[in-house]
Amino acid sequence: MDQKEQKILAATTAVDTLIKDGKIFSGMKIGLGTGSTALPAVKRLAERIEDGTLKDIKAVVTSFQTENYCKDLGIPVYTLNDRAIDGQLDLAIDGADEIDPKNNLIKGGGAALLLEKIVAYNSKFYAIVADESKSVATVGTKFPLPVEIIGGARRAVEKKLNEMGAKCVLRDGVRKCGPVITDNGNQILDCTWEDPVDPAKMEDEIAKITGVVEVGFFTKLRPTAFIAHSDGTVEIR
Ligand code: A5P
Repeated sequence: MDQKEQKILAATTAVDTLIKDGKIFSGMKIGLGTGSTALPAVKRLAERIEDGTLKDIKAVVTSFQTENYCKDLGIPVYTLNDRAIDGQLDLAIDGADEIDPKNNLIKGGGAALLLEKIVAYNSKFYAIVADESKSVATVGTKFPLPVEIIGGARRAVEKKLNEMGAKCVLRDGVRKCGPVITDNGNQILDCTWEDPVDPAKMEDEIAKITGVVEVGFFTKLRPTAFIAHSDGTVEIR
């Protein structure tokens, strides 16, 4: 199986395992992630709505990308503040850029880390869907850690991150001059370290820097991961 097929397999397996195919579910509040693995999960949810096994779903999205996709598919979109959601989700499904054996994550490759973390940390159950390329021994040595920052604090934050041993690159826009502007109006520093760092400690330390909005390490949850492999199997851990 190629990478795209693995993404679809992981996403479909997660939806049909967590929201068991064959039974009818009603009224679930579901957080929906962003990216090329999360969207097939959204598509699968739409199919389940269509076949009548998922009713009255309330979705909270993590990006404009996912919001547009839900609207195209007719999935009703709410915010965490809506009374029907009341700040608490039953389930969140999302992709990841890296996942280690303890299910620590790096997220934010699509610059949606802020809403992704808010949704994840306010959900009773958190599922990660990924192809096998995302599975690593140590997070933060290969994929640069995204840090969402207030643009006006860029140099100050960068200096603090340098003192913590990180090299930082301001993420550039594609088909846009200048930096990527996140869905929340902020900018992204992509950070790398030469040696492995403690992701849980770094998540806390970086979050304390004034001007940092959110950090792409997700270590405070233990998601259930659905990782699809090229041989067509899905590892659930
Ligand atoms: C979005 O900001 C990210 O956290 C994505 O969930 C992550 O980059 C995984 O994306 P893909 O599934 O497209 O690889």
